[in-house]
This record gives sequence, structure tokens and C-alpha cells, in this order.
Amino acid sequence: MVNFGVIGYGYWGPNVVRNLTNLEGSQVLAIAEKSVTARKRAQKTYPGMKVTPDASEVISSAEVDAVAVVTPVWTHYELAKAALEHGKHVFVEKPFTSNTEQAEELIDLAGRKNLKIMVDHTFLFTGAVKKIQQLLQEGTLGKLYYYDSTRVNLGLFQHDVNVIWDLAPHDLSIMDYLIKESPEAIVATGQTHLNGYEDVAFLTLYFPDKIIAHINVNWLSPVKIRTTLIGGEKKMLVWNDLEADEKIKIYDKGVNIANRQGLYDLLVSYRSGDMWAPQIEQGEALRLELAYFIECISNDERPFNDGIAGLRVVKMLQAANESLSRRGALVYL
Ligand SMILES: NC(=O)c1ccc[n+]([C@@H]2O[C@H](COP(=O)([O-])OP(=O)(O)OC[C@H]3O[C@@H](n4cnc5c(N)ncnc54)[C@H](O)[C@@H]3O)[C@@H](O)[C@H]2O)c1
Repeated sequence: MVNFGVIGYGYWGPNVVRNLTNLEGSQVLAIAEKSVTARKRAQKTYPGMKVTPDASEVISSAEVDAVAVVTPVWTHYELAKAALEHGKHVFVEKPFTSNTEQAEELIDLAGRKNLKIMVDHTFLFTGAVKKIQQLLQEGTLGKLYYYDSTRVNLGLFQHDVNVIWDLAPHDLSIMDYLIKESPEAIVATGQTHLNGYEDVAFLTLYFPDKIIAHINVNWLSPVKIRTTLIGGEKKMLVWNDLEADEKIKIYDKGVNIANRQGLYDLLVSYRSGDMWAPQIEQGEALRLELAYFIECISNDERPFNDGIAGLRVVKMLQAANESLSRRGALVYL
């Protein structure tokens, strides 16, 4: 049994607490939350639970084995560092930290103390991403051409990070998982309209082998869209995460060029074959992820979504901010 302390019971924290409470191998001993209203909410749902405004009480508790940090990004480093210093494993929300130096320090600290860090890259545990990974690995899509994601909705405005740091970690962690090559350079453009942080932004990532990725993130969209196009030489797919069934549709579409001369003569033929929707695994991703964290702690194994994976995402986010500040300058990674 792994005993958890959870810090932060705002929007996402209740999901972490619910799953840790329901899983066989874990229990939540205490919740730390600064807001009185959120504390009342936690206490009402879990009457017997210790609920405190003081995170250090949870971190220093001798009974706690692992701490989940579910607070805004700018607080992740201090809280995770304190937890590691007290000998606790940490589950940290995405994005891991506010900069790469902080991430490196936490990775080093965890390594020295033989403790686990898991960064909540929830999407890696969804049936959709697992299926896409399988399709890429089996070669169904063929050589990868592009990854193009639209992740837009109205709000929720964050007060410490821009829309890239809020929404793009999902796509960046998915790409980091799916695309074996590391990105070479990034271009980010965006604009601030309301609170000083970019609320509309566009990211382009250049990978080796002519793979290109584009991510559109927006807090000022009238509609919610979660659609990703992934194009390969053999097949292309559309992943609409808002679809209840048939989230992924694979299209046997593409372009055939008979020979090199054909390319210059524009003698290309367009292939338009079948479309099918593969079966994808059901189940709550966060539950599977937390079960995996418990397994990693129990078996002393390093999770694949560890601090190093978190650092790779923070590196891309930091480069995106640098590009943004120079109105879309190309930043090498
Ligand atoms: N994995 C996902 O899909 C997903 C989804 C949403 C949010 N998140 C991440 O979760 C984190 C929290 O986001 P949120 O939307 O829940 O934010 P939120 O603002 O709704 O909640 C954060 C809570 O933390 C509390 N808090 C802050 N500092 C504290 C401290 N030192 N001690 C105790 N409590 C403290 C705040 O009072 C607040 O209630 C962010 O990193 C965000 O990116 C991840």
C-alpha cells in the first residue's frame, strides 16, 4: 500500500484524489489546500480525511510515502523539491517545472535519493494515443510526414502561464512519445489580448527527416476543438478526442508518384481508399497512470513519463517562449 499526500484540490486535484482513493494499492492520508472553499469541498467528499492549509504538514508526515503536486506550475519546483528532500516519491502535474534548471535539479535530487518522479502526461495513458503509437510502430501509417493539432476552447484563463504552457504540454508530451526523433527547432507566434499572457498561439516544430508538427492553442475560441491530423506516407489519420466512439479514423489516402520525372511533370495520382475506425481501449487515463506509478514505486522501476520526459517538454516550452518574445524567431533546441 502506497500512502499519498495530495497538494492542491482545485480543478484537477479532485481527480487525482478520487483515483488514488479508489485504486487497490494506494490511499490518500492527507490533502493540503490553501483555499478555504476548496478545503470545505474536500472535507465534505472525504469526511475522515486530514485536510490542512499547510503543504509542509503533508510533506513532512512520516506516514506519507509519495506526494502528488497538483498546484499551479510556478509552485511545482518548491513543493516537489521539499517532498524529495523529505524522502517522498513525487507525482507532479504537467508542465513539470517553470524552467529547465529546476527540472534538472529535481531529477538529480531524486536520483541521489533513489526516489521516483512521475510527470502527469495523462494523454500517454489514453486508448487513442496507445493506438496511434501502435499504428506508427507497426508501420501502418508509413513514414511520418506531419502532426497537426488543434486544441482550442473558451478559457480557462491561467494566471501564471500563457496558453502554450497550459495546453501545449499535452501535444508536446504526445509527440515526444510518438516521434522517436527529437525536434531540432521551434517557432512560436502568439498574441496577448486580456491578461498579459498569450491567449492565442501557434507553434511549429521541425524534426529530422522532414517531419513537421504544428499546434494551435487558444483560450479565445468560441468552440472546443480537440482534433489532430497525423499524416504518413501510407495512411493518414484524424483523431477527434471529443468523439465518444470512433475517436480515430484511418484513411487510406495519399499521393503516388510513378517516378521522379512524374514529380516534375505533376504526374501524381491520388489514392483514395477505405476509411476505418479501429477499436480503442476504454478506461480513465489518469487511473491507469496512477496505477502505473504505484507499480513503479513497488517494483523500483523508472516510469517512462519520468522527470527526464518532463524536462524534454519543459525544454520545448522554454524555447517556445523565447521564440514568442522575438515574434516567431526560429529557436534551435
Ligand atoms: N493532466 C491534466 O490533464 C491536467 C488538467 C488540468 C490541470 N492540470 C495541471 O494541474 C495543475 C493544477 O491545475 P488546476 O487547473 O487544478 O489549478 P487550480 O488553480 O484549479 O487548482 C490549484 C489549487 O492548488 C492550490 N494551491 C496552490 N498552492 C498551494 C500550496 N502551496 N499549498 C496548498 N494548496 C495550494 C490552490 O489553492 C488551488 O485550489 C497545473 O499544473 C495544471 O497544468 C493537468
